[in-house]
Formats: sequence, structure tokens, C-alpha cells
Amino acid sequence: MPSAKLKIMAVDKIKLKNGAIIPAIGLGLWKVKDEITFDQMFKAAIEAGYRHFDDAQAYGNEQYLGNCWRKYGLKRDELFITTKILTQNFGYKATLKSFNESLTKLQTDYVDLLLIHFPGPYWLRKEKWRAMEEIKKSGRAKSIGVSNHYVKHLKELEAFATEMPVVNQIEMHIFLQQQEVRDYCKKLGIQIEAYSPLAHAQIMNDPIIQQIAEKYNKTYSQIMLRWCLDNEAIPLPKSTTPSRIEENINIFDFKLDKDDLSKLATLNRDKKTLWRSIISS
Ligand SMILES: NC(=O)c1ccc[n+]([C@@H]2O[C@H](COP(=O)([O-])OP(=O)(O)OC[C@H]3O[C@@H](n4cnc5c(N)ncnc54)[C@H](OP(=O)(O)O)[C@@H]3O)[C@@H](O)[C@H]2O)c1
Repeated sequence: MPSAKLKIMAVDKIKLKNGAIIPAIGLGLWKVKDEITFDQMFKAAIEAGYRHFDDAQAYGNEQYLGNCWRKYGLKRDELFITTKILTQNFGYKATLKSFNESLTKLQTDYVDLLLIHFPGPYWLRKEKWRAMEEIKKSGRAKSIGVSNHYVKHLKELEAFATEMPVVNQIEMHIFLQQQEVRDYCKKLGIQIEAYSPLAHAQIMNDPIIQQIAEKYNKTYSQIMLRWCLDNEAIPLPKSTTPSRIEENINIFDFKLDKDDLSKLATLNRDKKTLWRSIISS
């Protein structure tokens, strides 16, 4: 059986509201569609120190994640696995059924974090959350949370949830700072996870970020990811490039100072790059 050279990295950990511990960076798995690429990416990631993997039913690669963690000889309790319920599987029975299928593909009897991928249709919101609470109660998800939920969606949940989410995964990066929902989540003790923390590498030439990167002797991407940590969010960068996978986790040996955080705060453009129409209702 192939084994990866395991290395303990000094990755910070965060305690969620329910006491569960989550590594402060996770590898994004969206768009990693073929198994060979997935395997190479996973091996590079565990060698670099990642133990937190952000998957979803929608990504079509839960089976690859299940195959990989077993193949590289990791212990289940060393890993933090997230998956998300696909919108088409919303509804009480469909959520429970699809979650069982996810567990089979991931080759585990629990996930560390289960998220609702989107708010979804109004008429299914209550019953799918009831299914999530039931899964949590059964111990098959250590924590439950939401994704793409904004203040109005969280207020709606507060009205009927027995147990509130402990995580909200939203698009967040220097160019989309999401202050309103972050403030609301903070009030409720909900941890933010930042998806697309590199803004899909679409804006890699901002002069202020470049200047700050030079000052800390870090890369542009490392400044973008450190900015998430320094704003109490867990970044979930995606890369299938081994050198970038390593570069992206190497952000726990510095902190941005107050002046630099103030400069970076001015770069907000409030521009969502994903899912605007799906989550507007
Ligand atoms: N909940 C949701 O609705 C939702 C939505 C979107 C994303 N997500 C999660 O968040 C994860 C990350 O988001 P994302 O994939 O949209 O965007 P991202 O992580 O902001 O950007 C990924 C892109 O940046 C490139 N890249 C990575 N590291 C780099 C570096 N150091 N220097 C230069 N380029 C670099 C990658 O290229 P290479 O791969 O070629 O290196 C890839 O093209 C997803 O994989 C998924 O897990 C969740």
C-alpha cells in the first residue's frame, strides 16, 4: 500500500461553538473531477499538512476522497471531512437518503461537518434542517452548518431550528469582505468558512496586496489567505498544483498588522462572483 511521508504542520485549530475542533485551513475540492488528479492533489496535501477537506455531493468526488484517505493510511480521527447536501436532495427523506450515500462514498461512518449547500426552496427549508438535526443527533455528523446563508436566511432558521448551525460557508475574500453576515454570525457564535478565498485567482495584480506580500516576504496568495485568518474566517483554497498546495498552507508563521489590515479593508468591492441568483431568495 502506498504511503505518503506524513508531516505534522503547525496548522492552527479553532474551537466551534459546540466544542468541536476544526483545522483553520481546509483544501477545497470543487472541480477536481478525475481520480488521478485527485489522488496526486490529496497526496501533496497531506504531505504539506492539510487534514481538513471540503467536499460536497455536488462535486462528484466523495468516492475519490474515500479512496484516498484509506489508501494513504490516514486514521479517520486525524481528518476533518466536510460534505454538503446537494440542492436536488433537499427535503426530509432525500436529505437522509443522500447523506447515507455520501457516507458510503466517503468510506466512513461519520463526517466532521455536514452543510446545507444553499438555502434552497422555501417549502423545503424546515424539513431539510430537521433531517440535519436528526443526523447530528445520531452522531453521523459531529457538527452541522449551512452555506450561502445570509442574514435573512439565518433569521429564518432561528425561527424554527432546535439547533443552530455552527458554521456558515460563504464566498469571502479581500474583494468581497461580507461584513454584514460576518457580524451577524459572530453574534450567534457561527464560525465563518471562506470559500473562493483567492477569488478564483482572477485578481492577482492588486498593487496594495503586492506591496504587503513583499513586506512580509510572502506571496500574493498567502496574503489573501492570511487576511481570512486575521478576520476570523477559515480559508478553503482549492489547488491541484502541488507547489501551490504547499504555498497556501504556509500562512501560520505570520500575522498581518493593524495598518496592513486597514489598507486591505479598503479593497472591498462587494462583488459576489458566484451563485448570485441562486441565493438571492
Ligand atoms: N459552498 C459553496 O457554494 C462553494 C462555492 C465555491 C467554492 N467552494 C469551496 O471553496 C473551495 C475554493 O474555492 P474556488 O475553487 O472557487 O476558488 P479559489 O480557491 O479562490 O481559487 C482556485 C483557483 O486558484 C488557483 N490557485 C490556487 N492556489 C494558487 C496560488 N497559490 N497561486 C495562484 N493561483 C492559485 C487554482 O489553480 P490550480 O488548481 O490550477 O492550482 C484555481 O484556479 C472550493 O474548492 C470548494 O471546496 C464552496
